[in-house]
Order: sequence, then C-alpha cells, then structure tokens
Amino acid sequence: MRSAYRAAGQEDMHSYNLGLRLVRNADKGRSGSVTAGEPNLRTESAGRILIAYFSWGGNTRGIAREIQAQTGADLFEITPSNPYSSDYNTVLMEAQEDQHNQARPELAEHVQNMDDYDIILLGYPNWWASIPMPIASFLEEYDFSGKRIIPFCSHGGGRFGQSLTAIAKLAPDAVMGEGLSVHYSGGSGLSGNVTAWLEANGIKRN
Ligand SMILES: Cc1cc2nc3c(=O)[nH]c(=O)nc-3n(C[C@H](O)[C@H](O)[C@H](O)COP(=O)(O)O)c2cc1C
Repeated sequence: MRSAYRAAGQEDMHSYNLGLRLVRNADKGRSGSVTAGEPNLRTESAGRILIAYFSWGGNTRGIAREIQAQTGADLFEITPSNPYSSDYNTVLMEAQEDQHNQARPELAEHVQNMDDYDIILLGYPNWWASIPMPIASFLEEYDFSGKRIIPFCSHGGGRFGQSLTAIAKLAPDAVMGEGLSVHYSGGSGLSGNVTAWLEANGIKRN
C-alpha cells in the first residue's frame, strides 16, 4: 500500500477516494487486483499499435511523442470538448469535482478505426491518485475485447495511484500490459525507460 495523496484539506472534506482502508497480508498466489508488475500475457508484438493520450501540462504528450518516435505507432490525443482551465489551482478543483462525480466529459475527437488496432498504449497524468475522467470517457467509448491496453502515466510522486485498477474496471475485456510510470516529464532517462518498457511488453522498436 502506498499513499499518493500530498494535498491538504479541511477536516470535514470528503471524497470518494479519501478514507481508511483495512489491510492484511495477502494469501500466496494471485490476488484479484491489478498491479504494475503483472506478468505479460503475450510476449510478442502483434498487429497495429495506437498511442492514445490525454495531457494537461504537456508531460504526457512528451512521453507519447517519445513512444511514437521509437515505435512509429499512430498517435491520438484525447481532448475534452470543454477544456480544463489552464490555471493550476482551478484545474485541481475541476479535476477533483469530476472525479467525485465520476463525470464522463464529452470528447472532441474520436478514433474512427479502432478495429484496426490490437494494442493501445494509453497515456495520462496521475490526477488525484487516479485517471483523469476523459480517460474514463475514452475507455467507455470503444470495445476493447481482444485488445491489449498498456498504460503509461506521468505523475508527481504518486506513480500510478489507483489508475491501473480504474482502467481494468472500465475495460474489463481488455488484457492489461505492464505499465510505465514516469516522474513528470521523465528527464534524461525517458528514452531509455521507454525502450525498456516497450521491450518488457514485447513491442519491437522501429
Ligand atoms: C488536477 C491534478 C491532480 C494531480 N494529482 C496528482 C496526484 O494525485 N499524484 C501525483 O503524483 N501527481 C498529481 N498531479 C501531478 C501530475 O500528475 C504531473 O504534474 C504530471 O506530470 C502532469 O502531466 P501532464 O503535463 O501531461 O498534464 C496532479 C496534477 C493535476 C493538474
């Protein structure tokens, strides 16, 4: 267990993902939850790859572009029709409200040929220890059965938070690949980390 929350709040503040959780050691063997270290179910890359990402500040976009440079895969930006505020403090509130309401923001662009893709590299910033709600809109829009979703997440210290579990719940028919978490923009280690991650998922470089 790892707490990704770094924000201060009033003592009467409440939200669906604030609270106490009782834990105990798991039994040996597979648990029901999804973790970043799930073994790959497939080791070889097959079919076409789509990189789909949402980014507010540009860090996830930079990671997506690095992945694109290394794979030559198609790139798709997930854009809400009604953009979030460009002001940091305001977007914090907007994102928290969206998450609290489990909102499904309308998306401005749609993937017309989703059937052509077998692997979706899905990128997003960690927002309040989970996915931004436009990612939920995206996941509910398509049928991912038989496809592999491989998440990559930019964060400020909370790594994936609970985003992997959120994705698995929203796309229950997809196979989840091993995720990549990147601290902010990833700095000078980004290229090498992306290469290692692609290899771990059996995706060949360009
Ligand atoms: C609304 C909002 C909520 C955030 N919540 C978290 C969080 O819970 N944990 C964390 O590690 N980082 C959090 N961050 C930091 C972002 O994950 C980080 O800055 C990331 O690099 C942003 O990616 P982007 O530039 O693609 O938007 C949050 C940022 C924003 C704007």
